Amino acid sequence: MATEEKIARFREIAAAAKGTSGSLIPVMHEAQELFGCLDYEVEKLVAQEMEVPLADVYGVATFYSKFHLEAKGEYQINVCLGTACYVKGAEMILEKIEDMLKIKVGHTTSDGKFSLEATRCIGACGLAPVMTVNDEVHGQLTVDKAERIIKRYMSETGRK
Ligand code: FES
Repeated sequence: MATEEKIARFREIAAAAKGTSGSLIPVMHEAQELFGCLDYEVEKLVAQEMEVPLADVYGVATFYSKFHLEAKGEYQINVCLGTACYVKGAEMILEKIEDMLKIKVGHTTSDGKFSLEATRCIGACGLAPVMTVNDEVHGQLTVDKAERIIKRYMSETGRK
């Protein structure tokens, strides 16, 4: 869907919901579904169409972790920090990937290629520590193994 179509669709959604109590969060969900994230421009659109202060939209977006303030990267990396993974060194793996991509967890690289998140148990504890890159599961990680995997994705995207 082109951006103008998404904006038109969002305006319809907001018009139907406006004025109904408790509608801001569901409408923000719809906005995230449509636009992929709640960056500043999307927040402004939500505030304008719902006729609420931008500060309210921003406050909700930052309070609930399910809202993303940045567009997701082409490659979504999720490092599991559930107990089984954590005790096997998942935190060191996460730190290594942060260093490699030069971003902190919860962020996207400036070229839009990679997003990095920490997650709860993904149900693959037998393979701990585990990370996923898009739909691919990588298990029994070590810092070195994770580094090799991320390097492979980086070379696929032409990053050094
Ligand atoms: S704790 Fe990581 S997969 Fe279960």
